[in-house]
This record gives sequence, structure tokens and C-alpha cells, in this order.
Amino acid sequence: MTRPQLLIDTDPGVDDALAILMAAAHADIAGLSIAAGNVGLGHTVRNARNLVDLIGMSTPVFAGCATPLVRAPDEDAAFVHGQDGFGDVGFPEPKALLSGEPAALALLRLTRERPGELTLVALAPLTNLALALRLDPTLPQRVARLVVMGGAVTGHGNTGRIPAEFNIGFDPEAAHVVFEAFPRFDLVDWEATLRHAFDDAEFDRWLARGDQRAEFFGRIVATARAYNAANDRAGLIAADALAMAVALDPSIVTRRETRAVAVELDGRLTRGATVVDWAARLGRPAQANIVLEVDHARFAAMVQRALGVPE
Ligand code: BDR
Ligand code: CA
Repeated sequence: MTRPQLLIDTDPGVDDALAILMAAAHADIAGLSIAAGNVGLGHTVRNARNLVDLIGMSTPVFAGCATPLVRAPDEDAAFVHGQDGFGDVGFPEPKALLSGEPAALALLRLTRERPGELTLVALAPLTNLALALRLDPTLPQRVARLVVMGGAVTGHGNTGRIPAEFNIGFDPEAAHVVFEAFPRFDLVDWEATLRHAFDDAEFDRWLARGDQRAEFFGRIVATARAYNAANDRAGLIAADALAMAVALDPSIVTRRETRAVAVELDGRLTRGATVVDWAARLGRPAQANIVLEVDHARFAAMVQRALGVPE
């Protein structure tokens, strides 16, 4: 099987890190475009460079927007991921360089150089993708697939605005632009993530048996695990890793529904919610393949390989 060819937009972030380790183990990565989100852009760029050092690849890193398109966000996710986004471990200054090219321009250039070849994997607020789309609305024609981690398709979100999931709620206008522009994309939402958490004891065994990647991940994930345990979230939750599994191998999906999905921009209590037309009442084109279930054993195998667990 030929290796998937990926372009990853990300805000590392602990679960972003696991997703990028998966990508490095199973695919070729054309570039990492970096968004603000989990923590500020300075941290997410630095964390991406640390990951490039860890995986020992020459993957280019492109910095994107430091803020959402329109409104300042209500919150970041430092309370889950740590103040620096990587569990406040205190890694040394990375060696990997930052490209001088802005993320949105890099997304456009790389997809022009390789039309139809790259799967775009969006693991962050969609600010960079929206900006790229505003500059060049033909972008969707040049990507093989778009996989988005975002949303909460029945309103069980994970932010201060109850139905909003973090990536969409951080920059709803950007998500609106992307959801309107792409005629088809895979949507891996927060609710699917919760259904696909890993058993804590099993995950600890993987961390103990893996290589330096497991050691690295074990250190950065500690803060997020403590937060989840204190907030009644069961198991090892890794939203971006689940989206990456779908990007790497779409045949892993065992249950999906294709529906029209829109983003609430104005709601007093619901701004950032992903509104799904489940009964197809509005006659709008159904653009989102909503991933409901994946083959959990295959997902687990992908994660173990990414952590260097011997087979
Ligand atoms: C998403 O938000 C971020 O905190 C995670 O990295 C993931 O991309 C989950 O809602
Ligand atoms: Ca993320």
C-alpha cells in the first residue's frame, strides 16, 4: 500500500502530538501549518518544532494566524494541555526551523504543487484554512480529502458554551467558511472521540513498552490525564488521534452518516455549535461525512505503532 500523503493543520496540543506521531509512523507529511488554539501561537509553533525534532524528519513548519478571524476567543485549552500546550514539561529550544512562509500561503502553494495528491487533516481551529480559502476559493478542488476534527453533532460539546466543541467554538467564522466551501469532508467530532477513548491501564502498558516517542508522550499527557480524571472523563481521550486514524485509513470507519452541517455564529448560548440537519429538512447539500464509529482495534494498533510499541 502506498503511504498516505498528508498536509496537517494543527495547534499542538497533546492530542495533536499523538496524531502527528501517528502520521509520521504511517504517512508522509508535506508540512505542518500551525494555528493558535489550545494555547497561543508562540507555544503551538514551538511545540510543532519539538515534534519535528522528535520524529527526525525534515517536515516544514509554517506559522499561521495568532487570533481567530473575527472575535477574540472566550477561552483557550491551557487548563487541559498545560500553559505551554505540552504539559509544562519544559523542553529545550527545538532545533527544527520555522519557515518564513505564512501557513495560509503554504497551504495554497503545496496544494498547487501537488494537485489532488494531499489529504488535508485539520486538527485545530480552522483559521488558517479559512484564510487560505478566502485567498483562493479553488483550494477544495486541489485536495484529495479533507478530514476535520471538530464539532459536537448532538450538542454535547466540551467548552464553556455547552453545545460547542473547542476547535469550532474557538473560531466559528472560520469553521463557517470551511464548512461552506468544501463540498465533502470527513467530520470527526468530540462525541465520537469520547466513544473511542482508550482504557487507562492498557494505555499505560503501551507507554511502558514503547520507545522514545512513548516516553515523550507519557510526559506531555500527564496534565491532560489529571484534568480528565478530575472532570469525570473516562479513559485516555485523544480527539486528534481519532481524526488522524480516519485520515490515514478511511476504511477504519464502521459507521457514518452524511448530513448537512452548519456552524452557529450568533447564538447567545450556542455560538460555535455545529448544527446538523439530521432529517434533511432544509434541502441543503449534505457535505459532512460524520464519523460515528471506527474499528477500535485498528485505531489502537495505529497508536501503538506510533508510540513504538513492539508488535
Ligand atoms: C480539540 O480541541 C483541542 O483541545 C484538541 O487538540 C482537539 O483538536 C478537541 O475538542
Ligand atoms: Ca488540536
